[in-house]
Amino acid sequence: MSAGRFLQTLSGTRFPTPPIWLMRQAGRYLPEYRAIRATTRSFLEFCYTPDKAVEVTLQPVRRFGLDAAIIFSDILVVPDGLGQRVWFEEGEGPKLEALTDPADFGRLSRARLTDTLAPVYTAIRQARAALPAETALLGFAGAPFTLACYMIEGGGSRDFAKVKLWAYRHPESFGLLVDLLVEAVIDHLTAQVEAGADAVQLFDSWAGILPEEQLFAWSLEPMVRIAHGLRTRHPKVPIIAFPRAVGPAILMYRRPDAFTALSLDTGIGAHWAARELQPHVCVQGNLDPLMLVAGGTALERETRRILDKLGQGPFVFNLGHGVVPQTPPEHVAQLVEIVRGWTPSTS
Ligand code: CP3
Repeated sequence: MSAGRFLQTLSGTRFPTPPIWLMRQAGRYLPEYRAIRATTRSFLEFCYTPDKAVEVTLQPVRRFGLDAAIIFSDILVVPDGLGQRVWFEEGEGPKLEALTDPADFGRLSRARLTDTLAPVYTAIRQARAALPAETALLGFAGAPFTLACYMIEGGGSRDFAKVKLWAYRHPESFGLLVDLLVEAVIDHLTAQVEAGADAVQLFDSWAGILPEEQLFAWSLEPMVRIAHGLRTRHPKVPIIAFPRAVGPAILMYRRPDAFTALSLDTGIGAHWAARELQPHVCVQGNLDPLMLVAGGTALERETRRILDKLGQGPFVFNLGHGVVPQTPPEHVAQLVEIVRGWTPSTS
């Protein structure tokens, strides 16, 4: 049976038009998501209810015929599975009982992680069974640095001063937290692959706040350790890295021993990526999510510009960050049509 265009692209096959999926393709911009989300108050409880998680995983695939589904969950299930209190406040985003002292690490433990997260693996098993064979199913996790940001700040932050100062002043103890997160993420991704995820993506959404040397130590190096750890158990599983907003430092993530593809945020020029990255590694990205809100000719021109630079592959069409709630669903349908109908410009 064919593995589908998304997985074949990751293993080097080129198609006349690239496969497409979108980060945060399930979510509040879809009325059918809002309807089922309204049936559960707590967001984490919603993530841990397999029938509901499966349903919202499938919704965007049904509506738009995307080449991949991503399991509906959140990166913050890992701190939850380690025993840190995590909750989501309406309109405010995630909140965590912040780690304020290295002694707080003592309260975190990997011992119960995969038991706590068992509903995620059940959802993956069910989603894989329900999806068409040619539609890939992605598992995912937050990378250690981004998880540490939320765990130390106690939620989102304007400047992430607490996590940076901890890492700069006390690298040894910060290293202990990162080590724990490396092992926890390996456990979580391994369980997702064993439940049926065809590929995985590592989100390092806040990597871009680090200077270069710290970027190497706290973003790249832990992500490489995760990739190697997962590969000792599952040597062939494709791994996509998304180090967001790191600029040209993304060059150091060209690590074929670790990452099958690099996901590019909107700040990376498609032309530059075609020259510096694509000859070495499959790339994914990088339409501005607000182009998808704008729609119309702006969306059409920008989508074709990206396709003309990167579309000959190896390339997976995606956004530079997640779909935002104000996105009109019709614009997603328009985007899929543009990508599937693309032929290279002859200028
Ligand atoms: O469709 C998909 O992509 C799968 C589901 C998914 C969610 N979160 C669902 C979600 C994925 C892959 C994530 C990843 C995630 N979560 C990241 C990394 C990607 C990125 O955006 O940088 C981060 C940083 C988080 C943490 C998080 N979760 C935040 C900051 C928020 C609040 C912001 C918001 O959009 O509300 C969440 C909540 C969240 N995760 C929602 C969804 C659909 C919205 C909550 C709701 O529906 O009630």
